[in-house]
Amino acid sequence: MRRLLFAANWKMHLGPDEARAYVKAFRARYNRREDREVWFFPPAVSVEAAAQTARDRGDLLVGTQDVYWEPKGAFTGAVSAPLALQAGARATLIGHSERRHVFGETDEDTRRKMGAALAAGLLPMLCVGETLAERDAGHTLAVVVRQLAAALSGVDGAALSRVVVAYEPVWAIGTGRTATPEDAGAVHREIRGWLHGRGAPAPRVLYGGSVNAKNAAALLAERELDGVLVGGASLDPEGWAQLVQTSAA
Ligand code: 13P
Repeated sequence: MRRLLFAANWKMHLGPDEARAYVKAFRARYNRREDREVWFFPPAVSVEAAAQTARDRGDLLVGTQDVYWEPKGAFTGAVSAPLALQAGARATLIGHSERRHVFGETDEDTRRKMGAALAAGLLPMLCVGETLAERDAGHTLAVVVRQLAAALSGVDGAALSRVVVAYEPVWAIGTGRTATPEDAGAVHREIRGWLHGRGAPAPRVLYGGSVNAKNAAALLAERELDGVLVGGASLDPEGWAQLVQTSAA
């Protein structure tokens, strides 16, 4: 059975009270289905509230949007993987486009964060994707493979199997432009092949970038997509519950 993963990245939205109300409303509109799982990435301050509200629903998982690589210490403003775990996170995004392009995160930073997440027992969701200039120059696959190789250098088969990769072309994030299912599929094939070659038997590769309830079915009809990572269209629980129930023919 094809099992889809629907991941909501709330970015810098929804504080603790809002997160509780959201998860409650979502649960009321979405019953567990064996053919899909749903992950939420609230801002760090709302991880505990979201995780507690989702606690008795094994198909719902809460993660954090970023971790610092040191486990603890004098790093004002940062959240480590073990601290996120204590708050109830079971996963973390790594190398999201906004971390790379707004906050200047480097490939080397993603490698360190990957190591910290795996060491703490969090499920890493590594985000990769090219800018419009890189796409126009024909560098899409080279950029994506460089980002994979950097973040996952030294990660072996068993650990690699716990990594989810989200392909999010930078030009498609928050712009209303999506990759076509065919274009996304071609990049996913490359990513899957790369992960296979390094010992991950069944890697999961998600697509992200302006996914909404209207275009999700067409994207998910492409078998290379194991799910979607969604920003804007995940911010209200009714819309998200609808998107999560997209039938993938
Ligand atoms: P949008 O769905 O708002 O384009 O954001 C995509 C994204 O960055 C999810 O991580």
